[in-house]
Order: sequence, then structure tokens, then C-alpha cells
Amino acid sequence: ELFVHSASLPTHSPSLCGMFGPMTHHLERLLNSSKKIHDLTNEELVNFAAVEDKLESLPDIQHTAAHFKTLKVNESFLQLYVDTESFRLHVDWLKAAKENFSLPFVADESASSHLLHLSGLIKRSLHQINEEVPQLTAPSLPVIINSFNALTFSIEISERLQVFCICSKRILRHFHRLSRCPKH
Ligand SMILES: *[C@@H]1O[C@H](CO)[C@@H](O)[C@H](O)[C@H]1NC(C)=O
Ligand SMILES: *[C@@H]1O[C@H](CO)[C@@H](O)[C@H](O)[C@H]1NC(C)=O
Ligand SMILES: *[C@@H]1O[C@H](CO)[C@@H](O)[C@H](O)[C@H]1NC(C)=O
Repeated sequence: ELFVHSASLPTHSPSLCGMFGPMTHHLERLLNSSKKIHDLTNEELVNFAAVEDKLESLPDIQHTAAHFKTLKVNESFLQLYVDTESFRLHVDWLKAAKENFSLPFVADESASSHLLHLSGLIKRSLHQINEEVPQLTAPSLPVIINSFNALTFSIEISERLQVFCICSKRILRHFHRLSRCPKH
């Protein structure tokens, strides 16, 4: 029965067993940092619902999360890499703008560092499953003209990053289970 079960699992990938723990750790820390990218209260946020700028270049995680169970581990990890790098670029861009306007950027710095660690772990995972690390092209990002502008982008990036963390943790948990890693 065990044989039949594992033979029917196309995503069986024990080489990734060491990766799930560290990746989840960085996603949890990233979730914490991303909540602090703006320091508005929930009541204050309501006022921004209408003025939110749209960053078209941010990854659409909800779409990925909706169908991840039909994906192979290689496809999911490739997508995770692309999305992580995209968020890292956006966070670094936001951090630079905050520096320009003398706004605090500690949370952005910490988010950027966790995204970088995450990206490195995904790259190693891709090597282990013999997938090539894709070459990425940087999106063109709008000019941030004032600190209000920086604040609205902070809200959007913060919210999208939180969704990314929660969905990615779920995706990792799914593939962790399928990988049948030894318990220790
Ligand atoms: C996230 O932040 C909360 C409180 O802000 C803290 O209790 C928790 O330990 C933090 N988690 C991580 C993984 O840093
Ligand atoms: C992922 O792996 C499957 C085999 O398990 C293969 O058919 C597919 O082409 C791979 N996809 C990518 C994007 O490499
Ligand atoms: C920060 O200011 C520099 C110098 O004015 C400018 O070149 C750069 O584009 C600004 N960064 C952002 C993200 O707006």
C-alpha cells in the first residue's frame, strides 16, 4: 500500500527535506516585518482604502495559491522564486524612497533581508531538483514623488506581502507533506 501511494506521487522530492524548515522560518519573520512596513492602525487604514495606488508589477499571489495543488513541486518553486525576487525588488525600491523622504525603514530593511535569505534557499532548492534558476528582468517602477505617495505604496506592499507569506507557508506545508521527509 505504501508503495502504491508513493509511486503515485509525482512530487516526491526528499532532496528538499532540509529546506522546508528554514524557508518557513524566514516566511514567519517576513510576515512580522511586513506588518510593520506602515505604522497605521486599522482605523486609519480604512481612510486609505480608496486612495491606494496600484502596483501592477506586484505578483498576484491569490491566483497562484488558488491552484497550487495542481502544480508540480518544480513549478511551484519556480513561481516562489520569481515572486520572492519581485517582492524583494519592490521592498528595496520602497526602502530607498523612504530614505529619500527621511521616513523610518527598519521594517523594510528586515523584510528585504528575509526575502534575500528566502530567495537563496529557493535557489538551492531549484538546484537540488535540477531546475534552472530563471533570469529575471526588473519591472519599471513608478517614481515616488512625496511621503504620502510612499505611504500608500507601503500599505499596498505590506498587505500583498502578508498574503504572500501566508499562501507560501501553505504551499510549503503541502509539498512538505508530499515529500515524506524523515521525522527527527
Ligand atoms: C512576531 O511578532 C510577535 C509580536 O509582534 C512575536 O510575539 C513573535 O514571536 C514574532 N514571531 C517571529 C517569528 O518573529
Ligand atoms: C516539472 O517536472 C515535470 C516532471 O515531474 C515536467 O514534466 C515539467 O516539464 C517540469 N516543469 C518545469 C517548468 O520545469
Ligand atoms: C531617491 O532619490 C534619488 C536622488 O534624488 C533618486 O535618484 C531615486 O530615484 C529616489 N528613489 C526612489 C525610490 O524614489
